[in-house]
Amino acid sequence: MAVETGIRIVEEDDSGIDKAFRADVLAGLSQRQKAIPARWFYDERGSQLFEDITQQPEYYPTRAETEILSTRGAEFAALTGAGRAVVEFGSGSSVKTPHLLRAISPGAYVPIDISGEFLRESAAALSVRFPGLPVFPVEADFTKPVALPDEVQGMAMLGFFPGSTIGNLVPRTAVDLLRSMRETLGPDSQLLIGMDRIKDESVLEAAYDDAAGVTAQFNRNLLTRINRELGGDIPVDAFEHLARWNDLIARIEMHLRATRDVAFTVAGRRFTMKAGETIHTENSHKYDPRSSAALLLAGGWTPLADWTDADGRFSLILAEASEYRMAP
Ligand code: AVI
Repeated sequence: MAVETGIRIVEEDDSGIDKAFRADVLAGLSQRQKAIPARWFYDERGSQLFEDITQQPEYYPTRAETEILSTRGAEFAALTGAGRAVVEFGSGSSVKTPHLLRAISPGAYVPIDISGEFLRESAAALSVRFPGLPVFPVEADFTKPVALPDEVQGMAMLGFFPGSTIGNLVPRTAVDLLRSMRETLGPDSQLLIGMDRIKDESVLEAAYDDAAGVTAQFNRNLLTRINRELGGDIPVDAFEHLARWNDLIARIEMHLRATRDVAFTVAGRRFTMKAGETIHTENSHKYDPRSSAALLLAGGWTPLADWTDADGRFSLILAEASEYRMAP
């Protein structure tokens, strides 16, 4: 049965269990290095905890990106020109969007999100703030190419993907997504994308292990969700939050580490873990100017400008759709 949840379309079995969640968790817990995809963090509690993370003093990305958006508007406008349709991928509550819309005199705004209800509410709120701007919300999964509304066909497009969410994908998947965005936006398009920068290990690890323990709660909430939705009995208090910098791959990895030997059941399947064993729950890749350019080029985008906040912690990069076949 397919059910609209406000977060995404869910395929449930007869007992109301989300089949994709169960499949990912059972497969992930069966691996030698246990791993569960980070997208399952975001139930209602997880989404609220993520909002709380962005308010923590150690978690700089949201503030750093907002600083760039609110101070570099004139430079964006000089490179984008006026009249573009701004297409926001995974628009959510569109909190960062007004800075961009105020700066560049767009011809239209197209928020794309999988959550129809959320999308309609935030699109309506945005229309009130920008009365002359045509807004065309599209309810879709932006990880695949999306057909844009007829009303914006023929306009030059500017894709907008803030938040450094691209960093939560391994580069191979990130390249697939960038190519898919390139297909959605068309040949004369541009993309404004947020990427977090490589920096001192202590700053990065603190950002993902804040003193108030909010990120730890966010991480452990995944186990609570598994217990609730998949009939699990994981002893949540036997797991500690771990955030560590992997320098070779340039990413923060989040894990849940068993503090003692544990045995538990999920969806009728039995699992055991030794003390010290971990479940890998998230990657957050960080980039420098060259590695972000390499990623974008591989995804079909040529960088035009790379802005950072005053402390050089975060990048907002403007890129243009590359020719499919470049000269040798
Ligand atoms: C959503 N994403 C960009 C966040 C990040 O920084 O990778 C998710 C997050 N995980 C722990 N803290 C924040």
